Amino acid sequence: MINIAILGYGTVGSGVVEVLETNKKSIDIKAGEELFIKYVLDLKEFPGTSIESKLTKRFEDIIEDDSVEVIVEVMGGLNPAYDFVKTALLKGKSVVTSNKELVARYGPELLEIARNKNINFLFEASVGGGIPIIRPLNKSLTADEIYEITGILNGTTNYILSKMSREGLNFEDVLKEAQELGFAERNPEADIEGYDACRKIAILSSLAYGMHVNFEEIHTEGITKVRLKDLEYAKKLGYQVKLLGISKKINEKAYAMVAPMMISNNHPLSNVHDVFNAIFIKGNVIGDVMFYGSGAGKLPTASAVVADVVDAVKHLDKNIITHWYSKEMNLMSLEEVPSQLFIALEGHGYQDIIEQVFGKVSYIQSDDETVFITEKSTEGELKEKITQLTQVHQVKVTSTIRIEKD
Ligand code: HSE
Repeated sequence: MINIAILGYGTVGSGVVEVLETNKKSIDIKAGEELFIKYVLDLKEFPGTSIESKLTKRFEDIIEDDSVEVIVEVMGGLNPAYDFVKTALLKGKSVVTSNKELVARYGPELLEIARNKNINFLFEASVGGGIPIIRPLNKSLTADEIYEITGILNGTTNYILSKMSREGLNFEDVLKEAQELGFAERNPEADIEGYDACRKIAILSSLAYGMHVNFEEIHTEGITKVRLKDLEYAKKLGYQVKLLGISKKINEKAYAMVAPMMISNNHPLSNVHDVFNAIFIKGNVIGDVMFYGSGAGKLPTASAVVADVVDAVKHLDKNIITHWYSKEMNLMSLEEVPSQLFIALEGHGYQDIIEQVFGKVSYIQSDDETVFITEKSTEGELKEKITQLTQVHQVKVTSTIRIEKD
């Protein structure tokens, strides 16, 4: 029998208990051991639940109990999660987490402790909820040099953009409705400003490149400036607007970015709607692969956590090598990044100025705006050209959205 402890009995923590109870028989067979929840750490009481007798408010009860071999951290946030996880690993207990903030910031340090102790630090649920993506990157795709990851990594924003596009509603109204239905958090900043997707693309990039991609260096924009009009223009062009996390390696340089982007209806990611997530990967020998599924939610996330617990139990005294080391990856500066833009200007009559500044462009019909798509260039050059429009020619730019073509 293997004793486990769960830190946090919130949405994911209670989901982990539910999954372990629902599928107990088959999970124990697959783990090769009976899994037993010995403790659940939480400050609240949960009378009448199956874990009532296992509850403790003291982390010390867990850390000082040598019979606990696997700890599940599903509290979220950095404090006290980081101290608890580090202490547990240093004590020789394997840790499974769903905490993307913890993994994005401290992944290499925690992985190194696990390596030195010959135990495991596993975090499948930190990206894409129930979608298997960390293990595939670390196991199934090891024959490849991964040179591109493009992901719809946030369910809340994908739901908002899908509903705006489908029902012709504006951002504020859909956000309000999503909050009322419980899809979006009361404080939705991390989702709508792209911070959640930023940490997830940082984790995926680090695993793909084997070096630490610092999430603080990733250019991140959210969806708050996307107008209903932009979605309508996108439709006319045969595009969808999606909040994408992108990471690309060009020769030995890489860049990563999170921003709303237009993608063609021919791209597999354009069919990923509502709260679903998907991750599209390009490898130099496998070609294209895509992983699709429920990117959030109690049971999908708990499914990924429990699968990690099973893996931890199967490798109790054997570190599973994870290709993510502490050396920092140098990312390209934003100015150098290849880019192509959709641009909308207030009013009409700017054709000469546009062609003088941008050269050849393609126009989109609009009643009250001048809307066009630039040729491919770099972020730096396009930014400089927009500055010429606004400062030299006094034109008002009402919207810009990147176009992701490759
Ligand atoms: N808030 C996240 C989302 C949950 O909307 O995708 C999963 O990390």
